[in-house]
Amino acid sequence: MRTQVGIIGAGPAGLFLALLLAREGIESVILEARSREYVEGRVRAGVLEQGTVDLMHQLGVADRLMRESMTDRILDIRFEGRLIHMDMPDLVNGREVRIYGQQEVVKDLIAARLAAGGELLFEAEAMALEDIAGARPAIRFQHKGEEHRLECDVIAGCDGFHGIARLAIPADALTIYDHIFPFGWLGILSESPPLADMTYANHARGYALASRRSPRIARLYLQCTPDEDLAQWPDARIWEELHIRLNADTSELAEGRIFQKGVTPVRSFVAAPMQYGRLFLAGDAAHIVPPTGAKGLNLAAADVRVLARGLVPFLRKNDGSLVERYSQTCLQRVWKTVRFSNYMTTLLHRFPTHTPFERQIQLAELDYIAGSRAAQTVVAENYVGLPMDG
Ligand code: APR
Ligand code: PHB
Repeated sequence: MRTQVGIIGAGPAGLFLALLLAREGIESVILEARSREYVEGRVRAGVLEQGTVDLMHQLGVADRLMRESMTDRILDIRFEGRLIHMDMPDLVNGREVRIYGQQEVVKDLIAARLAAGGELLFEAEAMALEDIAGARPAIRFQHKGEEHRLECDVIAGCDGFHGIARLAIPADALTIYDHIFPFGWLGILSESPPLADMTYANHARGYALASRRSPRIARLYLQCTPDEDLAQWPDARIWEELHIRLNADTSELAEGRIFQKGVTPVRSFVAAPMQYGRLFLAGDAAHIVPPTGAKGLNLAAADVRVLARGLVPFLRKNDGSLVERYSQTCLQRVWKTVRFSNYMTTLLHRFPTHTPFERQIQLAELDYIAGSRAAQTVVAENYVGLPMDG
């Protein structure tokens, strides 16, 4: 088998990349280890920056997004009985985010890829990469019980944090930046009307977040321990804790049937550079951010935009001038996003190691944001997403 771009992983990074390349007449094959059902059912965050929404429009995959997603103007932070109420379009020139589950994005991208007749193999697990430093790299993969070899001009490692692409790069060629926070997030989906506005809460008992998926589906999170045992969290305890931390009783935050529960780690990770020879890493394969701010999907989309822009002249006329700056260009945005996710995480969570001094600094920061339009603008500008080339 042979293709121009061998893409490992059918998450947002791999799927967006394949569609961007196809638009320019560049062929690719996507290898995805899991089944279509599994990939489409994986529940993750659901906040799309303006730039990600624009990308869906450009690719012609925004119809359902525009019908079913909700615009999100407001970002609220509750703390100590107080409220910071930020109107994003007012603070940052009409820009806003949209609420649309990541798995809905993935469903739309898969549908578009298959409708266009593009190659996308499910249950095709990449096992090894060959000759990534040379001119004819290849991916060895297993599909339907057989071993195959996909020869490519370049390989895009879009295989997420636990994939094999990053591990194929010699350890001494990579610098790893890793920070694990001493807590996790317990996330639920509930059949109940959500709070009207996206609401983050800093509470002495720990952080909480009230988001939504539709007017009838709430997406809610509670800070928990990194290895929290879900058996310790019967529904009644989850609701009780949400009411306390969000300072919202049942008249404001209605309870409903919880139909999904999971624990997410809270971690920052960056592997640099994001390229080695003819292997390019994109999305979670290269970096993860804490979920606070919901930047993971948006960062993956930004990476592959830069990658596609560089690969097109390289594969068409052997002009590598853009693609050789891929890592450098992406990492500027990555680090600014890691910074913002780190800031929001530090601002809103209860750290088991906090001294009374650190707790007072946290409260002073919240008090400052509450009283300063300049500080609110900084939060809103990052929340809606930095400009694509910023
Ligand atoms: N062979 C083939 N596919 C693989 C392999 C492999 N060896 N290893 C992993 N994969 C697949 C996974 O099954 C997954 O579907 O790669 C895909 C990676 O997708 P994501 O984890 O969604 O990563 P990415 O596309 O970078 O999207 C980033 O998604 O992970 C979330 O929170 C993250 O929101 C962020 C966004
Ligand atoms: C979500 O809706 O899943 C979500 C929203 C905001 C965040 C994180 C996750 O900061």
